[in-house]
Amino acid sequence: MFAVVLLCIACFAYWCWCRQRAKTTEPPSLPGAWPLVGHLPLFFGDGCKIWNQIKNIVGQSYDVGGAVKINLGPITLYGVSDPDDCNTIATTCMEKDQIYDLTKPWFGESLFTSRYEVWKNDYKLLNPAFSQTILNTFMDVFNSESRELVKEFEKHAGKGPFDHFTYLRHNALNIICMTALGVGFTDSNLASDYLHAADSTLNTLVERAIKFWWHSPYTFAWSKLKKEQDCNLKILHKMSDAVLQKRKSELFGNPCVGKNITPGTKFKPFVDILLELSVEKEAFNDEEIRAQVDFMLAAGHETTPNALLYTMVLLGSHPDVQEKVFSEIQEVLERERDVEKMDLLRLQYLEAVVKESLRLFAVVPLIGRKIERDIKLKNFTLSAGQHCFLLLCGLHKNSIWGPDRYEFKPERWLEPSKVPSNLVYAPFGLGRRQCIGKTYAMMSMKTTLAHVVRSYRIKADHTKMRLKYAVTLKPDNDGHYISIEKRT
Ligand code: HEM
Repeated sequence: MFAVVLLCIACFAYWCWCRQRAKTTEPPSLPGAWPLVGHLPLFFGDGCKIWNQIKNIVGQSYDVGGAVKINLGPITLYGVSDPDDCNTIATTCMEKDQIYDLTKPWFGESLFTSRYEVWKNDYKLLNPAFSQTILNTFMDVFNSESRELVKEFEKHAGKGPFDHFTYLRHNALNIICMTALGVGFTDSNLASDYLHAADSTLNTLVERAIKFWWHSPYTFAWSKLKKEQDCNLKILHKMSDAVLQKRKSELFGNPCVGKNITPGTKFKPFVDILLELSVEKEAFNDEEIRAQVDFMLAAGHETTPNALLYTMVLLGSHPDVQEKVFSEIQEVLERERDVEKMDLLRLQYLEAVVKESLRLFAVVPLIGRKIERDIKLKNFTLSAGQHCFLLLCGLHKNSIWGPDRYEFKPERWLEPSKVPSNLVYAPFGLGRRQCIGKTYAMMSMKTTLAHVVRSYRIKADHTKMRLKYAVTLKPDNDGHYISIEKRT
């Protein structure tokens, strides 16, 4: 008996020692902590202030060996920017951070939010919806919507700076609706309401993430924010419900609903695959289908327009790069024809421009992972149970990119020796749970840019942009406006 007690004490002492050791090798704390509330005051303020703090965290983490510790009251979170460490975390931690649960009132149990066990199965079922064969059938939508955008831009040609982001967002919402849901947005008021509700809900999410006392649904229920969020969610879900109902009756009323847009290949929106899986394999119930659709809509309209916004501003600020893009487009797309899937492979310089733009402006600046057991990094140990954020925006400015890392140089992508490695470039995330829409996004963005650049000469000044963190990286002032002139 005595021996058992002694053994238990020894085990307990060893466990305490391990915990203590892990703690002593924890990343150093970000400077500026206050007693009790920790770094909370640093994050109070608007999205610009939060973005500045994120940049500060990146800078500090570079200085101290790749990671820092941040305290928001009782919550400890790590910000990691070292490429090897980010890779270690992304490949060993498959669960999303608890903070993602705050998005569940909107996105439910979608690919983005679900637990790894559920995700594994859903991912296998849904991945075919993003196969190259299916994506190729979306080219007609990408082209027709790009032509619409060029038409919309026309009223601003030669008339000075304008906010192209508003147009890009509406356009992206239309594209994702057509390709993911098989229906376009005919009601522009509904689209505006949707975009406004999405913006407010994302702002609420950021505010709630920082004000930790609202993480619990019980305390949050008492807040003014919850009332606002509920109103916005009604608008967001009304849209997905209405569209789903319509598509359901079309699909099951007419089994040949998939339109043959590209001869020989069936155009199949994402929702059709979900609905078929729900009938044939009982894989998803109505609530789960809506959750996947809600996230697709958000991912589609909250990311590509931002990336296009920055790319256009950068092109407008670098006329030499813009003219090279124009020449390539002229060469690949003789006359005024639509972009075809094979053209996308030949638009190599344009691809380099988009990649470079996503490097400088990481649309999703950080992603979160749950630390389920202590994780040993190069210089530190992360303790189990804490929150962890991988600073994708930090990877992209790592010194490994060279002294010109803050400059816009698409040429670097044309020389493989100048691109360090996959580990330091992750605009679409890292590890198994990275973006399923990556190829879709690149195809859609390149098509849009090809149409816009061959129609207009863009002018802009990227140094005037002020940015804010709103889950994605967004412009905050009119510094992002562009001017356009029609090309003859
Ligand atoms: C420039 C455009 C885009 C960027 C920069 C981007 C970035 C990302 C990132 C960083 C993640 C990982 C999130 C995490 O680890 O928590 C992600 C996930 C995801 N994205 Fe994208 N995305 C883009 C476009 C799209 C588009 C157009 C779609 C849909 C058509 C899409 C659908 C998704 C989905 C479903 C996930 C969750 C994947 C999973 O957890 O399995 N994304 N995206």
